[in-house]
Amino acid sequence: MLLQAFIFLLAGFAAKISALMTNETSDRPLVHFTPNKGWMNDPNGLWYDAKEGKWHLYFQYNPNDTVWGLPLFWGHATSNDLTHWQDEPVAIAPKRNDSGAYSGSMVIDHNNTSGFSMILLIQDKDAWQSGLIILQKVKNNTLAIPLMVVLGYQYECPGLIEVPTEQDPSKSHWVMFISINPGAPAGGSFNQYFVGSFNGTHFEAFDNQSRVVDFGKDYYALQTFFNTDPTYGSALGIAWASNWEYSAFVPTNPWRSSMSLVRKFSLNTEYQANPETELINLKAEPILNISNAGPWLHFASNSTLTKANSFSVDLSNSTGTLEFELVYAVNTTQSVSKSVFSDLSLWFKGLEDPEEYLRMGFEASASSFFLDRGNSKVKFVKENPYFTNRMSVNNQPFKSENDLSYYKVYGLLDQNILNCTSTMEMWFLQIPTS
Ligand SMILES: *[C@@H]1O[C@H](CO)[C@@H](O)[C@H](O)[C@H]1NC(C)=O
Ligand SMILES: *[C@@H]1O[C@H](CO)[C@@H](O)[C@H](O)[C@H]1NC(C)=O
Ligand SMILES: *[C@@H]1O[C@H](CO)[C@@H](O)[C@H](O)[C@H]1NC(C)=O
Ligand SMILES: *[C@@H]1O[C@H](CO)[C@@H](O)[C@H](O)[C@H]1NC(C)=O
Ligand SMILES: *[C@@H]1O[C@H](CO)[C@@H](O)[C@H](O)[C@H]1NC(C)=O
Ligand SMILES: *[C@@H]1O[C@H](CO)[C@@H](O)[C@H](O)[C@H]1NC(C)=O
Ligand SMILES: *[C@@H]1O[C@H](CO)[C@@H](O)[C@H](O)[C@H]1NC(C)=O
Ligand SMILES: *[C@@H]1O[C@H](CO)[C@@H](O)[C@H](O)[C@H]1NC(C)=O
Ligand SMILES: *[C@@H]1O[C@H](CO)[C@@H](O)[C@H](O)[C@H]1NC(C)=O
Ligand SMILES: *[C@@H]1O[C@H](CO)[C@@H](O)[C@H](O)[C@H]1NC(C)=O
Ligand SMILES: *[C@@H]1O[C@H](CO)[C@@H](O)[C@H](O)[C@H]1NC(C)=O
Ligand SMILES: *[C@@H]1O[C@H](CO)[C@@H](O)[C@H](O)[C@H]1NC(C)=O
Repeated sequence: MLLQAFIFLLAGFAAKISALMTNETSDRPLVHFTPNKGWMNDPNGLWYDAKEGKWHLYFQYNPNDTVWGLPLFWGHATSNDLTHWQDEPVAIAPKRNDSGAYSGSMVIDHNNTSGFSMILLIQDKDAWQSGLIILQKVKNNTLAIPLMVVLGYQYECPGLIEVPTEQDPSKSHWVMFISINPGAPAGGSFNQYFVGSFNGTHFEAFDNQSRVVDFGKDYYALQTFFNTDPTYGSALGIAWASNWEYSAFVPTNPWRSSMSLVRKFSLNTEYQANPETELINLKAEPILNISNAGPWLHFASNSTLTKANSFSVDLSNSTGTLEFELVYAVNTTQSVSKSVFSDLSLWFKGLEDPEEYLRMGFEASASSFFLDRGNSKVKFVKENPYFTNRMSVNNQPFKSENDLSYYKVYGLLDQNILNCTSTMEMWFLQIPTS
C-alpha cells in the first residue's frame, strides 16, 4: 500500500488486521454476510431475540440460481455478535413455484394487541411497487406533510424508526427510510430518508429536504432491527450491498450478493449543509466484533507527504480483513493551485499484478474524498458500464488548529487484502466523522 500526495501532512495512518479466514480460496467476504449458495437481495424481517441472545436476518433468496428468479424464498441467517453470521435453512417458501415471498418486516407484538404474537408484513406480488401502501393498509399510518421524495420509478422497503441524537442520546427523533430504484443520483438503487416526529399514526417530517443515507453505489433496501440489545445501540440496520444496475453480473460463485455491515445510527443535530441551514442528519457507525484482530498499527505519523516523498506500508504478509483510519491535514495558508490536481492517494496494490490496485484519496480544492475501484483484473469491472468506478463525497475537517485543517477517513477491506476484488465498505456520508 502506497500513500502519495501533493503537500499533505499525514497526521496518522493506522491499520488493524484480523486473521479471520474461511476455508475457501474464493472472494467470499469474511464479515459481510453472503449466503452459502444462490441469489440474495433485500434484507427482511430483522429482529433480535433477547431470550436467546440471537440476531435474525432474513433476506430475499433464490436458492436455485445466482440471479433473481421465482420461486423466491425468505432465506435466513443468525448471529450472536452482529459480525459472524450462520446461514440457516430457508425460512419462508412461496405458495406456488411461480410466485415469491417478497420483502417484508417483522414486528413482535409484546402485548398481543393484534391477536398475533408476531406480525409479518410481507409485500405480495401485486404490491411489489407499493410498500408504503401496504404499511398504510396494515397500520394506517399517514404522512402529515408532503415529502420531497426523489422522483424515481419504484418506491419500496419503507421503514420508520426512533433514532437517538448524538448530542444527547436520551433525546430522539423519528426517521423514515424509503428505497428508490431506479432513480439514485449515482444511478440505480439508493436509500432516501426523512427526519421528523411520529405520534403513533402520523409521521410529520421536520422539513422537506431530500436526504441520502449513503452516497456509495451499493447500499439499498435498508432495514432496521425490531428490538435490539441496548449495548449495541437502539437503531441498527443492514442494507443490501449491491445495485440493481449490475447486481446480476457481479463475478462470484456459487453465490451472488452480500449484505452491508450492521450500522448503528444516530442523529447529528449540528451538521450544517451550507451556511444558511442547520440540519439534522443521520450518522452511521459500523459494528464489528472481531476478537482476533491485531492491535492498531500506526504508520508515518507527522510526515509531510509530497509527490516525491511518498510513503508505503508493506502488508504483504497479512490476510483477512483490514480496517484503516487515515488522518491527514491540509495547510490552509498555502493556496493550492487549481491547475494542479492536489490529491492525497492511497494505492492498495495487488500482490500478483502491480497494475491492479484500488485507489482512494482526497482532493484539496474540491474538498472531496474519492474511491476508484476501476483498476481490477476482473473483466466485469472493466466491461460493465453501470459498475460505477469512481465515487466521491464531500469531506469536511473535524478539527482546525493553527494553519491546519484535519480530516479523517475510516474504511474496511473485507477478505484477502492483497487481491482487491473483495467487498469494500466506505462510509459515503455527508457528515464529517469527528
Ligand atoms: C468449509 O466451508 C464449508 C462451507 O461453509 C463448510 O461446510 C465446511 O465444513 C468447511 N470445512 C472446514 C474444514 O472447515
Ligand atoms: C486471491 O488470492 C488467493 C490467495 O492467493 C487466490 O487463491 C485467489 O485465486 C485470488 N483471487 C483472485 C480473484 O485473484
Ligand atoms: C428451488 O429451491 C427450493 C429450495 O431448495 C426447492 O424446494 C425447489 O424445488 C427449487 N425449485 C426449482 C424450480 O428448482
Ligand atoms: C415446484 O417445482 C419443483 C421442481 O421443479 C417441483 O418438484 C414441484 O412439484 C413444484 N411445486 C409446485 C407446487 O408446483
Ligand atoms: C404493554 O402494556 C403495558 C401495560 O399496559 C405498557 O406499559 C407497555 O407500554 C405496552 N408495551 C407495548 C410495546 O405496547
Ligand atoms: C394472542 O392473542 C390471540 C387472540 O386472542 C391468542 O389466540 C394467542 O394465544 C395470544 N398469544 C399469546 C402468546 O398470548
Ligand atoms: C385508515 O384511515 C382512513 C382515513 O382516516 C380510514 O378511512 C380507514 O378506514 C382506516 N383504515 C383502517 C384499517 O383503520
Ligand atoms: C397524530 O397527528 C395527527 C395529525 O396531526 C392527528 O390528526 C392525530 O389526532 C394525532 N394522534 C395522536 C394520537 O395524537
Ligand atoms: C418546504 O418547506 C419549507 C419550509 O418548511 C416551506 O416553506 C415550503 O413551502 C416547502 N416546500 C414544499 C414544496 O413543500
Ligand atoms: C506531531 O507533531 C506535533 C507538533 O510538532 C507534536 O506535538 C506531536 O506530538 C507529534 N505527534 C506524533 C504522534 O509524533
Ligand atoms: C513477511 O514474512 C517473511 C517470512 O516470515 C519475512 O521474512 C518478511 O520480512 C515479512 N515481511 C514483512 C513486510 O513483514
Ligand atoms: C503552513 O504554510 C505556511 C506558508 O507556507 C508556513 O509558514 C507554515 O509554517 C505552515 N504551517 C504548518 C503547521 O506547517
